[in-house]
Amino acid sequence: MNRPWLVTGGAGFIGYHLCRRLSAEGRSVIAVDNLEPTYEPALKRRRLELLLELPGVAFHELDITDEAGMAALFQQARPGSVVHLAARAGVRGSHLDPMGYVRTNVVGFTVLLEQARRVEVPHVVYASSSSVYGDNAPVPFSVSDPADHPISVYAATKRADELIAHSYAHAYGLATTGLRFFTVYGPWGRPDMAYFAFADAILHGRPVTVYGDGSALRDFTYVDDAVDAITALVPRTPRSAGRPEDGDASVPWRIYNIGHGSQASVAELLDHLESRLGRRAERVSEPVHPGDVASTHADVEPLRRAIGDVPETPLAEGLDRFVPWLQGYRERHAEPHLA
Ligand SMILES: NC(=O)c1ccc[n+]([C@@H]2O[C@H](COP(=O)([O-])OP(=O)(O)OC[C@H]3O[C@@H](n4cnc5c(N)ncnc54)[C@H](O)[C@@H]3O)[C@@H](O)[C@H]2O)c1
Repeated sequence: MNRPWLVTGGAGFIGYHLCRRLSAEGRSVIAVDNLEPTYEPALKRRRLELLLELPGVAFHELDITDEAGMAALFQQARPGSVVHLAARAGVRGSHLDPMGYVRTNVVGFTVLLEQARRVEVPHVVYASSSSVYGDNAPVPFSVSDPADHPISVYAATKRADELIAHSYAHAYGLATTGLRFFTVYGPWGRPDMAYFAFADAILHGRPVTVYGDGSALRDFTYVDDAVDAITALVPRTPRSAGRPEDGDASVPWRIYNIGHGSQASVAELLDHLESRLGRRAERVSEPVHPGDVASTHADVEPLRRAIGDVPETPLAEGLDRFVPWLQGYRERHAEPHLA
């Protein structure tokens, strides 16, 4: 039986790469996205155009908070697996529009779980975030650490999702796996993320705005590695109690860090980009945003135990793929404010 995979946020960065992979594996995919203009709408549209050329990919333009629309879709599609990536993503935006974040990330997620349990989807895999660890967790971040002190509304919505998922696993037996992604980057990425915004600025000879002194540390995860982890975890439906170090629960509920397991500073990221773009960046310093954490670092041993593999692309190699893609893309499509 080849029941389709339903991928929410399919026109988004990670969703686009996941749908491509699933199509290449001969699967049937239903991508859902409301094409919200949260960043460069033309980039999102272009991803979608490319997806629609692929075999096995169907698209529904739908807001995940639309209960009737989601119910109709789940009833009709009866997905075999759900990968939920749709969200308002990013820390800073969540302090400009907290209600919008809560609506999509918490209400929309609950709408999705509700439909998934009604049509008895065997396993829902959903995006959480490394931001749930807040600013005081010991590094590397372990899924068995408490994550009770989020410092952004975004992080709080993602932690709320994990807790709601737990309640669905307990109350209805709905199996869920939450993925705490650590700074996922790569071609077709998000122009609002630092690596992309820095590269765009250097490419166009504009000053680069650095929040803080450049010492903030991030665990950078190449997008293909994140997709490897997603596709490996979907068939591993949690069925029973887990181990404490795997985000344990007495119900079919798991959490994994999806990170490379190493760190690079913002200053190092800039050095990498400057050397690949052949230009020095003029750096303009702005205060650190109160929602940004100083450091992220994933403990990926539970992921290794679960799937035998962890994200392994070094930052330098991932940027070797990202920068030429960006140069080519900007030759064909100017940045919106320059077009
Ligand atoms: N990229 C990262 O570094 C990173 C890190 C941690 C967590 N995440 C999480 O991973 C997931 C995917 O992230 P991404 O980087 O691909 O982001 P993205 O913004 O590119 O993708 C999210 C997609 O969801 C869609 N969407 C937003 N609200 C919607 C709604 N109400 N209904 C339907 N669709 C909606 C958007 O249009 C977008 O295409 C998100 O849940 C994000 O929070 C990403």
